Amino acid sequence: MKRIALLGATGSIGRQALEIIEAHPALELCAAASGSQPIDGLAPITQAGGDLTELLERAEPDLVLNAVIGFAGLPATLWALERGVDLALANKESLVAAGELALAAQRRGGGRLIPVDSEHSGALQCLEGRPAAQVHSLVLTASGGPFRGRVREELEDVTPSAALAHPTWNMGPKITVDSATLANKGLELIEAHFLFSLPYEQIEVVVHPTSVVHALVRFRDGATLAHLGYPDMRVPISYALTYPERSVTPIRPLDLAGGMTLEFGPPDVETFPLLAYARSAGERGGTYPCAFNAANEVAVAAFLAGRLPFLGIADVVAEALAAADGSAARDLDDLVAADEEARRHVEETLKVA
Ligand SMILES: NC(=O)c1ccc[n+]([C@@H]2O[C@H](COP(=O)([O-])OP(=O)(O)OC[C@H]3O[C@@H](n4cnc5c(N)ncnc54)[C@H](OP(=O)(O)O)[C@@H]3O)[C@@H](O)[C@H]2O)c1
Repeated sequence: MKRIALLGATGSIGRQALEIIEAHPALELCAAASGSQPIDGLAPITQAGGDLTELLERAEPDLVLNAVIGFAGLPATLWALERGVDLALANKESLVAAGELALAAQRRGGGRLIPVDSEHSGALQCLEGRPAAQVHSLVLTASGGPFRGRVREELEDVTPSAALAHPTWNMGPKITVDSATLANKGLELIEAHFLFSLPYEQIEVVVHPTSVVHALVRFRDGATLAHLGYPDMRVPISYALTYPERSVTPIRPLDLAGGMTLEFGPPDVETFPLLAYARSAGERGGTYPCAFNAANEVAVAAFLAGRLPFLGIADVVAEALAAADGSAARDLDDLVAADEEARRHVEETLKVA
């Protein structure tokens, strides 16, 4: 029996994870947490809000599935990595903000870090067991979101409900807006850099509207391996929970004979500059990715609350990055300080606007 602590149990990933755990005889839910929604009785140990590491200490899980949204997931990520408890990571924000600290914690702890993001799950399956020297580049695919093909002028008045209408994935509100701005792909770029120890110049993002190909790896001999499947998060969730095994899921096999075309193109970083800002923050390193993430979190919340126009999200993130000092974090306190500074900067900008 693998004992699983599920953090973010009431969210989009959390609910799908519950379905996978329930259907699998060798997976047992030993603890569950939400941010504020009551979840009494969902698992032997539950917690709504508060310090997630206290729940984890009590639960002593074999694996933590971190499906919390945003920077709030960071202490749980570090807890699992430091103790060598396997971590299935949906909460990409924690790895983006704390990349170096998280990897150092993993080296000390010795546990597994298994991505839940579909692109990174696919990339892991293409890369695993292959020497880095054979890898030419990793390609992450982006659906392009609901505004793919539009130019800036056409995005001036878009509403939160338009941004929340994602064409291929059914996800929580924050990541759905991130998909519309391409910030999500920027976060994933940084996540991939840390997960697979690849320099940024070896990671490319392409737009692939139907989200059937999740990731591709090009090798030095000219061969390319790709990971394909219908866009359904239950597949990478199941893979992360049962890794390195593969279990049966309710997802149907890919139907190729029924007709399928695969379309790819470059991302439009003029219209969706957050992808370029994320790449630049990642390349600069230090706490720039942490600042990018924090500023984006506040900006997305402001957009959803009607306090900021869609195009304003990228503008305030750019300003926060310009104001950030970016120096490397020695510990969690430094990261929290960098996170708070970027949040404060965006809040100040919002007050003035
Ligand atoms: N959804 C997807 O398909 C998808 C795909 C790839 C990656 N991801 C990543 O997975 C993570 C979760 O995304 P989601 O779409 O599932 O988000 P979501 O639907 O908004 O759910 C967020 C979950 O986090 C909980 N939460 C919020 N603040 C918390 C806190 N301080 N402590 C404990 N729990 C807290 C929420 O609890 P309450 O309900 O009580 O607020 C909820 O259970 C994100 O990092 C996202 O980038 C998601």
